[in-house]
Amino acid sequence: MSADARRPLIAGNWKMHKTIAETRALLRELRAYPLPAGIDVVVAPPFTALVAASEELHGTAIGLGAQTMHEGEHGAYTGEISPLMLHEIGVRWVILGHSERRATCNESDAGVNRKVRSALAHGLTPIVAVGESEGEHRRGETHAIVVAQTRAAFANIEPDEVARCVVAYEPIWAIGTGLIDDPANANAVIAEIRASVAGLERARILYGGSMKGDNAAALMAQSDIDGGLIGGASLKAESFLAVIEAAAPRAGAT
Ligand code: PGA
Repeated sequence: MSADARRPLIAGNWKMHKTIAETRALLRELRAYPLPAGIDVVVAPPFTALVAASEELHGTAIGLGAQTMHEGEHGAYTGEISPLMLHEIGVRWVILGHSERRATCNESDAGVNRKVRSALAHGLTPIVAVGESEGEHRRGETHAIVVAQTRAAFANIEPDEVARCVVAYEPIWAIGTGLIDDPANANAVIAEIRASVAGLERARILYGGSMKGDNAAALMAQSDIDGGLIGGASLKAESFLAVIEAAAPRAGAT
């Protein structure tokens, strides 16, 4: 693996935001901006906007992600979207196991593992989200929870394949709240995640949870934080670009 295997990655998780027209408008703003060298940027719009997003991003360096997928290629799964369908339209990244899906769509650790394997088999890079709830955080269970989630997500996957994946550590209590984890603490948790599965020492591990332009530099200064999974701040060009700019000094440093 090349020396820049852990080059910074800033990924925007748009969640259930943006119509097709809004998607086109935001991506036109983003693609007009000269992105700093040495950073990977990904956006994950909702399914309905992915085809339009793929058109807008054609020929740019901005990667296209989906927010979830089914692990199967096709079949009687009403409402689901397969990795073949995503790959066909230019999607190359997929967020898997986001805490909102674990909480509201019954996503299990075993299901996340099936999806990670399927994504890898279909040429999609998984961005696997792990994180503890506020109660688990207060009870000092963070380490046990995130390590268990991480080991389950990558169970029986070869280290070289694991190294191609991305993990996002997102403390649930920090998502959408405006509160970030203390950068040094987040770094320590991410170091534990990195040490928990063979191959993750070469993989990118992101922080997520209220990461914005004004706190991104402190997070990106940490040794084990390779980027961010950005929700709210990814919905406007100005705030998303502020995070990308804050990550720029990290480019080439790993
Ligand atoms: P937030 O969301 O940046 O709005 O906290 C992050 C996420 O849920 O991925």
